[in-house]
Amino acid sequence: MAVQRTFSIIKPDATARNLTGKITSKFEEQGLRIVASKRIRMSRLQAREFYGVHKERPFYDELVEYMVSGPVVVQVLEGENAVARNREIMGATDPSKAAAGTIRKEFAENIERNSVHGSDSPENAANEIRFFFSDTEIVG
Ligand code: CMP
Repeated sequence: MAVQRTFSIIKPDATARNLTGKITSKFEEQGLRIVASKRIRMSRLQAREFYGVHKERPFYDELVEYMVSGPVVVQVLEGENAVARNREIMGATDPSKAAAGTIRKEFAENIERNSVHGSDSPENAANEIRFFFSDTEIVG
């Protein structure tokens, strides 16, 4: 498997608890490099578009409000098999189902306030990276 890039968000529940460094360390310790990173306040329009695939879900409006409720850290992670690797490091969406040692098991508050987002496929990774970063902001 070749070197890949994936997209990550450290979410408002995690930035509020000052967990940016601890979460970033998990990526680095497990073989992913941070090749782009910025702390932003997502606009409501950005959050609605980013999570557009979930717009028919009952939790969509609440998810959007949560994602704009505080700062987030958007990152590009690079490494061997980065999309799948990052999903292992994050653990299951629902922290009660996440494996020991994963970010969500250690830090997530509940299924919505689950500390991190990570792309679920290489295609979505490319789209999500492009949504937040220009080429010159990514330095491998
Ligand atoms: P994420 O991996 O960013 O993708 C979609 C997000 O929706 C997910 O993490 C959670 O933050 C949120 N989410 C998923 N399922 C639920 C649910 N059943 N109830 C509330 N929020 C959810």
